[in-house]
Amino acid sequence: MKRVAILISGGGSNMLRLVESMEGDHPARPCLVLSNDPEAGGLARAEALGVPTAAVDHRPFGKDRAAFEAALSGPLEAAAPDLICLAGFMRILTPGFVSKWAGRMLNIHPSLLPKYTGLHTHARAIAAGDTEAGCTVHEVTADLDEGPILGQARVPVQPDDTPDTLAARVLTAEHRLYPAVLRRVAGGNRELLTL
Ligand code: GAR
Repeated sequence: MKRVAILISGGGSNMLRLVESMEGDHPARPCLVLSNDPEAGGLARAEALGVPTAAVDHRPFGKDRAAFEAALSGPLEAAAPDLICLAGFMRILTPGFVSKWAGRMLNIHPSLLPKYTGLHTHARAIAAGDTEAGCTVHEVTADLDEGPILGQARVPVQPDDTPDTLAARVLTAEHRLYPAVLRRVAGGNRELLTL
């Protein structure tokens, strides 16, 4: 049985879907939900589901990302995950941290990568006149949002969409895609999944 740690910064709706998916014949189980924000709403939600949680506030570390990551590594390494899922984790990770977990760390990003790495993906898709948007699960490498793509789900962009309405539609696709990709990866299948 694979052990999965999930890193969050906010409400954790993707985290919840991942946790809920790991039951029965699923090849993985959640071992930790970890946040850089002690107030993240997802922490209480994970606790309510009986998943161990921890928080390491990034703010006291200022610009010293390596020191923050050293602190983050305490609870993370204690949980001994086989896989780490970034699920709305909004801190950029250093190459040193990423290389330690190479091939074992996944991320979900709210765009059809390679389009729109970084932030404000939905506003950028609307501004570009795209008729299609979506989300991507990829392996995390040192280059932000650039790692090998494991799965993508597409949704239409409606003519009257705002960034918020499009984000809500993409989020429902994220909730389908991430559990599906995690199940495959935990079972040893890294072929591209398209939904
Ligand atoms: C999701 O839309 C996720 O794709 C995005 O943050 C949201 C978190 O929602 N992640 C990024 O933008 C990463 N660069 P959640 O906390 O409800 O899962």
